[in-house]
Amino acid sequence: MDNAIEVPFNRPCLAGQEMNYIAQAVANGHSSAKGPFTERAEHLLTERLNAEGVLLTTSCTDALEMAAMMVEIGPGDVVIVPSFTFSSTATAFARQGAKLRFCDIRKPDLGLDPDDVEASMDDRVKAIVTVHYAGVASDVTRLQAIAQRFGVPLIEDNAHGLFADHDGKQLGSFGRFSTLSFHETKNFICGEGGALVVNNEGDLEAAHILLDKGTNRRQFLDGLADKYTWHGHGSSFGLSDLLAAFLLAQLERADEIQSKRRKIHGKYTELLMPHTERLALTLPYHHQGDKPADHMFYVLLPSAAIRGEVIKLMRSAGVQPTFHYVPLHSAPGASELADSDRHLPVTDDISGRLLRMPFFNELTEHEQERVALALVEAVEASILSTAT
Ligand SMILES: Cc1ncc(COP(=O)(O)O)c(C=O)c1O
Repeated sequence: MDNAIEVPFNRPCLAGQEMNYIAQAVANGHSSAKGPFTERAEHLLTERLNAEGVLLTTSCTDALEMAAMMVEIGPGDVVIVPSFTFSSTATAFARQGAKLRFCDIRKPDLGLDPDDVEASMDDRVKAIVTVHYAGVASDVTRLQAIAQRFGVPLIEDNAHGLFADHDGKQLGSFGRFSTLSFHETKNFICGEGGALVVNNEGDLEAAHILLDKGTNRRQFLDGLADKYTWHGHGSSFGLSDLLAAFLLAQLERADEIQSKRRKIHGKYTELLMPHTERLALTLPYHHQGDKPADHMFYVLLPSAAIRGEVIKLMRSAGVQPTFHYVPLHSAPGASELADSDRHLPVTDDISGRLLRMPFFNELTEHEQERVALALVEAVEASILSTAT
C-alpha cells in the first residue's frame, strides 16, 4: 500500500486574477465563445507569437481537428505523425479518413526524426505533423524543408512548447498551422482549452467559419457581411469566455510563469547531474542557443525493466512520478488506423525508460530535493534488486 502522496505529479497553480476575471466574464453576460476575454487572449497570443491569427478552442485536440479539416485531409490520404505522442495528434487526422504513417523520434531531442520522415515520403502523404516534446524543438527547420519539397503542409502540435524558440524563431511559427493546449497539466491552464495558431493570412477566414459551426458569423458581427449564413463544414470548436477569462489571467503573467518553470528545471538538473554517470540516467536536452518551454522534467532510466519498481519506491516515499506516452504504432488503435506496420526502435526504447518528475509552477526547492532523493534511492535499490 502506498504512503500518502505529498509531492503530487501536478498541482494546477493560479496566477492571481483568475477568479476576478471569471466574475467579470459572468457579469458581462457573454459567457459563450468569442466574447471580450477571448478577444483579449487571442490578441495577446497573436501579438506574442507574431501569428496571422489565433483562435481559442475547447482543447488542443479540437485545434488539431480543425487543422486536419483546414488542410483538407480525406480518405485515401496518408499523414505522417510521430508514434511517440498523445493519441489526439493521430486521431485528429484519422477521423478525416486518412491513414497514419508513424515515424520514429530521434535522440537526444525526442522529436520526429527527419531521416525517417524523408524515407517515408511518397505521393500518398498529404501532411506532416510534428510534436515538440517537453517544449524542446524537434528539427522543425528540416521538417519544414521536407514538407516544402514534397508540397505538403507541416503542422506543429505545440501542446508543450508555447513561448519556446528554435533558431531564433518561435515554436509554432514554422508550420502552416500550430496548436496549443491549456489543459490543467500544461504551463498555462484554464481547465480544458486550446488554440489554433494560423500562420497564413489566407487561412484565417476559413478557420473562423470552421470554428463557428460552418457559418460566417464572425464576418456578420464585424459588419463585413449583411447575412449570417451557413458556408460548409464546421463544428462548435470555440472556448467559453468564462474559460478564456481564466486563461487570460495566466497569459498576462506568462514571463513570470515561464521564469518559475525555468528555475525548477534548472534546480532538477543541478540536483540530479551529480548522479547521472553512476546511475546511467539521461537528463533532458535542448539545442544550444534555443529557448525551451520547460514544460516538464523527465529522466531516462538505464533500463525499462526497472521503471515499475522505481515508480513504486518513489510513491512509497510520498512522491508521484509518472511515465508518458505508450507508442501509438503498436497500440490497438494502429491495427485499424495505421497504413503500414512500422519498427520504431527509438520510440520503443525511449517510451519504456522515460519517467516524468513532479513539475508545477509552485513546486518548492524542498519538494524538489525530496523528489531527487527519492529518485536516486529508488534507482539504486532497483538496480541492486535486478542485479541479484
Ligand atoms: C502532444 C500532445 N498533443 C495534444 C494533446 C491533447 O491536448 P488537449 O488535452 O488540450 O486536447 C496532448 C495532451 O497532453 C499532448 O501531449
